[in-house]
Amino acid sequence: MNEKRILRYSFILCIFLLIFQPVLFAQRTGYSKEEIVRRRNALMEQVKEGMVILFGEVSPKPAAHIRQDNDFYYFTGIEDMNAILVMIPKTRESFLFLPRMSAREEMVDGPNMLRDKEAKEKTGLKEIYPLSYFDEFIARNSRRGQGTFHLRLSPRDVVDGDRWETPLRIARKNRIHYNDQISLDNYRIKKLKERYPSFEYKDIVPLVDSMRVIKSPEEIEILRRNGKISAEAVKQAMLATKPGVFEYQLEAAAIHVVLKNGAKGPAYSPIVGSGPNTCIWHYSENSRKIEDGDLVLMDFGANLDYLCIDITRTWPASGKFTPEQREVYEAALEVQKACIEAYRPGVTEEDVQKYVAKVMKEKGIDPRGLKGGFGHYVGMAVHDVGPRGIPLKEGMVLVIEPGLYYPEKNLGVRIEDTVLITKDGCEVLSRDVPKEINEIEKLMAKRK
Ligand code: GLY
Ligand code: MN
Ligand code: MN
Repeated sequence: MNEKRILRYSFILCIFLLIFQPVLFAQRTGYSKEEIVRRRNALMEQVKEGMVILFGEVSPKPAAHIRQDNDFYYFTGIEDMNAILVMIPKTRESFLFLPRMSAREEMVDGPNMLRDKEAKEKTGLKEIYPLSYFDEFIARNSRRGQGTFHLRLSPRDVVDGDRWETPLRIARKNRIHYNDQISLDNYRIKKLKERYPSFEYKDIVPLVDSMRVIKSPEEIEILRRNGKISAEAVKQAMLATKPGVFEYQLEAAAIHVVLKNGAKGPAYSPIVGSGPNTCIWHYSENSRKIEDGDLVLMDFGANLDYLCIDITRTWPASGKFTPEQREVYEAALEVQKACIEAYRPGVTEEDVQKYVAKVMKEKGIDPRGLKGGFGHYVGMAVHDVGPRGIPLKEGMVLVIEPGLYYPEKNLGVRIEDTVLITKDGCEVLSRDVPKEINEIEKLMAKRK
């Protein structure tokens, strides 16, 4: 090839890479040190006195990638297991406690940060100590046995569930009294209270949640990228749909996209329901063979750098909506779009409901019992933490997820987008996946 040709091809390649970069070359970034240090300082600024103690996750879940405890990760960005973070607001210093690993543990799992000479520089922590020093450190930093511990007294959240789903899961487990042992979080509190009974105990969760609910510019960039990856995943599942394929094959098409683009996997168990399964809200068996005439409902989102996206689309297996499917779909879509129009800083749930009712009336559409309202927050957890019942604020991320279900007709429709509240409205982070009927039918006409 002569030089001119090489130049021309390089130019074309650069343009191609620029256009397709978000999906083809999304990479894991994590958070900058400045971001994490800023979070710790912002928390300490509000707490002012005593000690903040946060425990990390103890071990990976079976057959899963390592996933740190959300609150712990938010203030450390560190995935080492069995760690404890202590923040001292008075001096604005933070300390990490880590287990000393045996040579064999290091060989099997890789070393933790305790042996990393640059760890303090990388993390902005004042000191990293072995775990065996934790109790002595607490004793040394308390005023003659007096002081305040700021701990997580409210439940933890997990990647696929908010704080208040945790006691729900525990209550279900405890229905069998042989299962009703105290949770690890509550055990830690009990143990600290036994050792330091004269301390005051305060819940750090309201402050943590007030921070986590407003996404920072770094978080917003990751969410935008995840929005594109997750949208592409759902699009590929649409393209993989035809009568005769199994629901799990659509799941596979979506998962291929998220892993290829650097996400750790789905943010929650993917829901791919066809026919009767479209009416089961959290169906995740994904094992049925899709039939001609079915609707397919897919609820899917990736987990990228500890931030989730939550999307649902519903489409016809044949590629064309029937008149009945179309009518139900249109009602759900109009409610969803009216909510998006209404979302902006300052609005309340009631404002959104009123607006949706007005739009439906003007358009002469029967919303079939659907109301507009706030969906759940989205962030480190797909049902993320944050105070409920307050007006929307810039930087919040939440879903809009109206659904209509007719089990007697094997017909369920849900349309869900993840949106970021901006200065004067909202940005639909999952907008790249079609949701207008003509767009869906056009995409599906491209199937091989
Ligand atoms: N993906 C679960 C939900 O939409 O709430
Ligand atoms: Mn949702
Ligand atoms: Mn969902």
